[in-house]
Amino acid sequence: MAKLLKKTKRLILRPLETKDFEVWRTANSKKLPSQNKWDDGRLPEKDFTKAKFKALLKEQSDHRKADQYYRLGVFNKKTGALMGTVSAMNVVRGVTHSCYLGYFINNNYWGQGYGKEAALGMIHFCFKEMKLHRVEAGVEPTNRRSIMLAKSLGLRKEGLKKRMIFLRGAWLDCTMYSATCEEFGYKWKT
Ligand SMILES: CC(C)(COP(=O)(O)OP(=O)(O)OC[C@H]1O[C@@H](n2cnc3c(N)ncnc32)[C@H](O)[C@@H]1OP(=O)(O)O)[C@@H](O)C(=O)NCCC(=O)NCCS
Repeated sequence: MAKLLKKTKRLILRPLETKDFEVWRTANSKKLPSQNKWDDGRLPEKDFTKAKFKALLKEQSDHRKADQYYRLGVFNKKTGALMGTVSAMNVVRGVTHSCYLGYFINNNYWGQGYGKEAALGMIHFCFKEMKLHRVEAGVEPTNRRSIMLAKSLGLRKEGLKKRMIFLRGAWLDCTMYSATCEEFGYKWKT
């Protein structure tokens, strides 16, 4: 696997590191209160201790080592601010070479194209560096912002997966938006 780093026009995508503690804590303090049910919004400051950050880094590193889950911080190239995260989740090699795409932008940066830039960067990272063949985003049918983003990324609507995720105490349906590497200009190599 190549280095876990992807640069786009305005952003750098990379895993969080020990040196990012203050940037991580500041990012939370700048968030607005939650804007919708998919947005955490600003969380209590007590959740942003050095011990919790260390545990988070360990968890994310373990997931990468197992080749299961890659969560990358979305950093602003100019200011160094942490603006959100993008993820390749449930990585499966075997016969599918696939993952689920995750994207979260801190709500104080919404509507400026950062979500699209970061998610597009992650899709290219998945196909080019991680050598995956298929990327799928599962979106709850009422998550309008996420649906708009999935469409604007050029992902294909493939259908509804019934009771796909257990969240907020219930099994929820997700509309699947997907792409294979050929659609983003990559040739599949075994
Ligand atoms: C979904 C999310 C990542 C979008 O981030 P963002 O930075 O605001 O997105 P962008 O500014 O890049 O906008 C992407 C597209 O969404 C559309 N969009 C943005 N804001 C919109 C709004 N208020 N209403 C309708 N469409 C909107 C635009 O059409 C844009 O496409 P375009 O660039 O082709 O015009 C962000 O709202 C978020 O983190 N939400 C909470 C977490 C979440 O729902 N994650 C997804 C779980 S499946």
